[in-house]
Amino acid sequence: MPSFNPSISLKTMAFQKIISVFPLQVLLVLLALDSSNAQKLKVGFYCKTCPDLEAIVSRTTHQYISRAPTLAAPILRMHFHDCFVRGCDGSVLLNSTPNSQAEKGAVPNQSLRGFDVIDAVKSAVEKKCPGVVSCADILALVTRDAVKMVHGSFWEVPTGRRDGRVSLASEANRGLPPPFANITQLKALFAAKGLSAKDLAVLSGGHTIGTSHCPSFTNRLYNFTGKGDTDPKLDKNYIAQLKTKCKPGDTTSRVEMDPGSFKTFDEDYYTLVAKRRGLFQSDSALLDDTETKAYVTKQATNRGSTFLTDFGVSMVNMGNIGVLTGNNGEIRKHCAFVN
Ligand code: HEM
Repeated sequence: MPSFNPSISLKTMAFQKIISVFPLQVLLVLLALDSSNAQKLKVGFYCKTCPDLEAIVSRTTHQYISRAPTLAAPILRMHFHDCFVRGCDGSVLLNSTPNSQAEKGAVPNQSLRGFDVIDAVKSAVEKKCPGVVSCADILALVTRDAVKMVHGSFWEVPTGRRDGRVSLASEANRGLPPPFANITQLKALFAAKGLSAKDLAVLSGGHTIGTSHCPSFTNRLYNFTGKGDTDPKLDKNYIAQLKTKCKPGDTTSRVEMDPGSFKTFDEDYYTLVAKRRGLFQSDSALLDDTETKAYVTKQATNRGSTFLTDFGVSMVNMGNIGVLTGNNGEIRKHCAFVN
């Protein structure tokens, strides 16, 4: 005998009530309007409107990244910073105006590079398909291609994002996770974006490529609790090495986050974190939670590491954050300016 499901029965009653108030035609129009503004991203969104899109993006990205492979890292970080502030809407690409400082001007974004790559790809795409492809989608596609070029995996990128018209430095300063965050704060920040603890563990693996400026971690070397001490969660020998690269007060030097293979997208990051050599407190924090710690340990063993495949899955999850679709937002003509 079918069991009674109170939630279905309540939904049915609510629907019957709405039907009795609105004629069916009105309801259909309302549903159509709603769906035009809340579409899902999909792989091949531009297959009719810009069939060569992925080839154009890939060609132009290759031209740039083959000459400057270290740009893959800041471009990956740019996509992350775009998605965590107002969703993946290209807001990180907008320039400040005389009246308003854009996300680009926020402290964590001042070290972003690679905007010229996005502009070049956008202009190549505009030549073939004017006014069709959003900057938010271009950033997601360029990121995938750039990561692939530094030996990452390939993943299909669902598209259909539209570009936002608002970009505020204050929101980026508030909304991006700081390197000093602990595991509770990190999990909460990710959960607020619909991302799981696993996504956190996987996406932190983005730190397998790239460099960091000294101030993002020198508190761990010189003055952890205000008493001139070091962070007990950081390996002592590693602290000694890092001190030779970052003297107190050094704001300009950069260190490789995954020393020796900072240009290669691999699972070495997890070996480092497991050895208490994660550069930021946020990296070490992955060892303070059962689930994220288990993930780190599993990847660090190097036997049957699933990181590269997992990364594609979590990037798709990240790429879904707060997207504008349907009639929302716009398709910018130039990624640095609203139309
Ligand atoms: C979990 C929270 C995270 C924190 C607290 C964090 C923090 C940071 C910091 C402080 C830097 C160094 C910036 C500098 O001093 O120049 C950095 C670099 C970087 N981050 Fe993260 N990050 C996080 C997550 C992510 C995610 C999810 C990704 C991508 C999926 C990512 C990709 C990168 C990359 C590639 C770099 C190197 C950039 C370069 O070489 O210029 N990070 N991150």
